[in-house]
Amino acid sequence: MKRFVLAITGASGMIYVKRLFDQLQSRAETHVIISERGAEVLQLELGLTADYFEKENTEVHRNARMNDCLASGSFKIDAMVVCPATMGTVGRIAAGVSSSLIERSADVVLKEKRKLILVPRETPFSTIHLKNLLALDQAGALILPANPGFYDNPQSVEDVADFIVARILDHLEIEHRIQEPYQPQVRRKPA
Ligand SMILES: Cc1cc2nc3c(=O)[nH]c(=O)nc-3n(C[C@H](O)[C@H](O)[C@H](O)COP(=O)(O)O)c2cc1C
Repeated sequence: MKRFVLAITGASGMIYVKRLFDQLQSRAETHVIISERGAEVLQLELGLTADYFEKENTEVHRNARMNDCLASGSFKIDAMVVCPATMGTVGRIAAGVSSSLIERSADVVLKEKRKLILVPRETPFSTIHLKNLLALDQAGALILPANPGFYDNPQSVEDVADFIVARILDHLEIEHRIQEPYQPQVRRKPA
C-alpha cells in the first residue's frame, strides 16, 4: 500500500479533499494533518470535523505537534498533498518556515526530493502568491490549482470537484474510475 500525507489548510474547496480522501481511504495508508483554520473551513463548508478522517488505514496527526514521525525524513512516504492550500501555507512552505507539522512535513518532502502536490485556491493571485508558487515549482513541488475544466459537461458540484480529484489521483499513481481520460467524441449531455 502506498503511504500519503494529506494536509488540509484553511482555503475554500473542502469538497476536493473530502472526495480525495474517500478515494484514498481503501487504497492507501493516509496520514491526515488539519490546520486550525482548515478545521474551521471544513466545518463551515461541509459540516465535518477531524473525526471524519478517523478511519481504517488512516492516522490523524496534530498540526501543533512537532515531535511526530512526519517531521522526520526517516519516515518514508510516497507523496504529500496539500489540499486545499492557502496562500499563507504556500508562503510559509516557500520560505522554509516549518512552524507547524504541515509546514515541516512539506519541508521534509522537498529536502528528501519526494513528491509534493499543492492544490492552491485563491483568486486573483498577487505577485507574492505567484512568486511563492514559482519558488515551490522550482524546488520540485507540483502546483495543481483547484481550477476545474468544464468541457466534460459536469452535472453536479461533485463532478466539478472530481475533475481536480482525478488529476491528483493520476499524479499519486492511484487507479480510479471517477473521470475517464479525455476523448473528444465522448461527451456528457449538457445539463
Ligand atoms: C471561509 C474562509 C475561506 C477562506 N478561503 C481562502 C482561500 O480560498 N484561499 C486562501 O489562501 N485563504 C483563504 N482563507 C484565509 C485563510 O484561512 C487564512 O489565511 C489562514 O490564516 C490560513 O491558515 P493556514 O494556512 O494555516 O490554514 C479563508 C478563510 C476563511 C475563514
